[in-house]
Amino acid sequence: MVARNNERTSMVGGGYYNQNSSLQALVAEECGGLVSPDECQGGSITLADYGCSEGSNSVLMLRRAIESCPEDASITIVFNDTPANDYNSLSATMDRLLREPDKKNPRKIYPLMAPQSYYQQVVPDDFVDIGFSTASLHWIARLQPAGGNLLPSDADISAEVLADILHFLRTRYRELRSGGLLLLSFPVDGELSLKCAYPSIFQCLTDLAVEKVISKEAASKFRLPFHFRTPEEISQALQAVKGEFEVVEHFDRDVTHPAFLQFQSTFADSPSGTPDAKALDAYCKAISGGFTAIIGNTVVDTARLFRGASSSTETSSAEEIRSRMAEKLQQRLRKSDFWRTSLGNKYVFLKLRKI
Ligand SMILES: C[S@@+](CC[C@H](N)C(=O)[O-])C[C@H]1O[C@@H](n2cnc3c(N)ncnc32)[C@H](O)[C@@H]1O
Repeated sequence: MVARNNERTSMVGGGYYNQNSSLQALVAEECGGLVSPDECQGGSITLADYGCSEGSNSVLMLRRAIESCPEDASITIVFNDTPANDYNSLSATMDRLLREPDKKNPRKIYPLMAPQSYYQQVVPDDFVDIGFSTASLHWIARLQPAGGNLLPSDADISAEVLADILHFLRTRYRELRSGGLLLLSFPVDGELSLKCAYPSIFQCLTDLAVEKVISKEAASKFRLPFHFRTPEEISQALQAVKGEFEVVEHFDRDVTHPAFLQFQSTFADSPSGTPDAKALDAYCKAISGGFTAIIGNTVVDTARLFRGASSSTETSSAEEIRSRMAEKLQQRLRKSDFWRTSLGNKYVFLKLRKI
């Protein structure tokens, strides 16, 4: 069996992901709202967020869930991500956002961190009452250049994404108490997507190679590290775990990027139907920041894997690669007509109960 435990995916830290993930924030908040008071009874409740990154969206989601818990409850929260995540930033975010509302929130909160891949067990058996994972399960372990064992480009992706999700679900099955809930949301295949920006991403990588920030080989070998599952791929996974999990809720929702809505509102009433330059600049900056936050480290890892012959590509720091990527991507988006297409994602929402 393929090892997935050494997964080292991470978002760009130092507050960058927190500041550039407004699309994911909408999804996380909705996911937190799917917990009802009758589903979190008792004096001691354990919540876990799998793939929490720097935590601002995680806290938004968990706050919603905590509102449904009894006021005299003690709540333990496990924040999980890979060892490569920025835990200093997560800790600062938790401190700022989780403790701040304590004055109004009478519940005692005990945050814990679990820095391991969620493809392995991260807490003991029967430990978790409600587990969450948002905007993470479309990351495919063997599309991560830092993990080793990269998936060949002609491999059957459907088989791989099924193996990933079953591994995740069966590991969570052990961690959840009987009757415990798993709330999952991740982007799936749909008409509303981020695809209109993809050509600019690949052009930006070519620009980075021309300027010797990364090697030509890295630019040509780069692959997007995620896969948007089809409805069939999701049904197949749920079918495979039907003896372990009951499906309580399963629905899709189109979530338009807030930056697109904001941008569109600036010229909705304009007779010419064209955006003004400032609004377009701001939109390109927001989308470039969002992509750099999520795939900036994948670009760095690809650059490390395919260093190339030029000595300057060997010396580009991670910081330099990410900042030049943000700059070049913004320029490429600005030159393209991606702004004419709605940008966002279809997300699936799943509420599963351990049988
Ligand atoms: C796009 S971020 C989503 C963060 C947050 N849940 C949100 O909704 O904004 C995806 C997160 O999943 C994490 N991740 C990916 N694979 C993982 C794994 N195998 N184990 C733990 N975390 C993982 C990444 O490191 C990243 O922080």
